[in-house]
Amino acid sequence: MPHYDENKPAAAENPGRLIKANPVAPSPAEVAAAAPGGDSPPSNAAIQPQCQSEHDREIPEVDLLSPLILRGVTFPNRIAMSPMCMYSAEDGFANDFHLVHLGSRAIGGTGLVMVEATAVTAAGRISPGDMGIWKDEHIDPLARIARFVETQGAIPGIQLAHAGRKASCDTPWNGGNSLKTPAEGGWPVIGPSSLPFSADDPVPVAMSETDIEECIEAWGAAARRALKAGFKVIELHAAHGYLMHEFLSPLSNHRTDNYGGSLTNRMRLLLEAASHLRAILPSELPLFVRISATDWVDGGWDIEQSIILCRELKLLGVDLIDVSSGGVIPDARIPVARGYQIRFARRIRNEAQIHTGGVGLITDPQFADEIITSGQADLVFIGRELLREPYWALQAQHALAIEPEWPVQYGYAVKRRAK
Ligand SMILES: Cc1cc2nc3c(=O)[nH]c(=O)nc-3n(C[C@H](O)[C@H](O)[C@H](O)COP(=O)(O)O)c2cc1C
Repeated sequence: MPHYDENKPAAAENPGRLIKANPVAPSPAEVAAAAPGGDSPPSNAAIQPQCQSEHDREIPEVDLLSPLILRGVTFPNRIAMSPMCMYSAEDGFANDFHLVHLGSRAIGGTGLVMVEATAVTAAGRISPGDMGIWKDEHIDPLARIARFVETQGAIPGIQLAHAGRKASCDTPWNGGNSLKTPAEGGWPVIGPSSLPFSADDPVPVAMSETDIEECIEAWGAAARRALKAGFKVIELHAAHGYLMHEFLSPLSNHRTDNYGGSLTNRMRLLLEAASHLRAILPSELPLFVRISATDWVDGGWDIEQSIILCRELKLLGVDLIDVSSGGVIPDARIPVARGYQIRFARRIRNEAQIHTGGVGLITDPQFADEIITSGQADLVFIGRELLREPYWALQAQHALAIEPEWPVQYGYAVKRRAK
């Protein structure tokens, strides 16, 4: 069952908030050295005032509600809606459900609203209900979403995806089983090697080098459509056991050509795709990559390989690594707990010197704030808690002792009680 079934203002404008100094925030010199391109605008860390005295160390440099600048994009805060499949598209088309679903998180103060895994080819969908961007007709309904999200002061992002050998499944609320035949509504699946995800899943067709080239082209065409639709962030999905991750992990990649075997070869597809996307994106727009930092299995993909990968991605102009984990095999033992993936975000941030996003069982605003103020990540991605509470970001502002930045239509009416 290859589905997702996982069990404002700047600090200076909020002088009332007392937040710890960030012990590992890079210095301006480090940030300048880390900047992906000489013409890029300075990152958020580069524009933070430096401590002038012992006393100043109590002044927050960056917190959950501080803006983040990546290239030419200013995120109003560090709260991102994690991409989440809704399995509610028909033939890949976004519809009114998606507009209201994503739009309400934008009204709710989320700084970055990321559209769910959006398939770059029809065969790359997890289910027939996945969002798609494999044809030009998909652009208009996506543009409607991006436009609305932006009118609410949030940044619209989109995750581009290919499910690889985990494609062709029923929706989770129908059991999520593999759809094995066209009669069941399924289609043939592809992957790096002819190894199924689990024993009773379809055996994928191992991709030829021509298939790989076509696939990279499909990611590029999808990125061009996403730009036309008005998205300001593109995230390349290379996590959770889907196609890109399948190439990275020695558990799912048994190839003997240029795309398998050594770490260099297993990273090749993702690096080629990232490089292709970076060349398509204008220099003022950031490129994110979501990875699984570990397979949680001996002999699989792990954090050490992830750090090497992220150094390479940074050299190609990737701006932020959205750090998740797991998904390439069905029976990994994952120690799921509050913020259990944050240590990987911290290591990648420190050792690859690239911005990171932290995700996974983050529900409490204070905890999210600590992730930022302690320098473990630059963005916090919230998944299920934003399904439970679309206005989580406004609640976080309240919990962190600032007046929520209500939409103007609400603010004049509700602000008395907020005090
Ligand atoms: C319903 C659902 C759908 C998801 N779809 C995606 C997806 O499209 N892309 C992705 O990278 N992660 C997806 N995920 C994983 C989430 O983005 C997130 O990483 C995960 O739920 C952990 O964060 P949380 O504990 O805040 O929910 C999905 C998770 C859920 C619950």
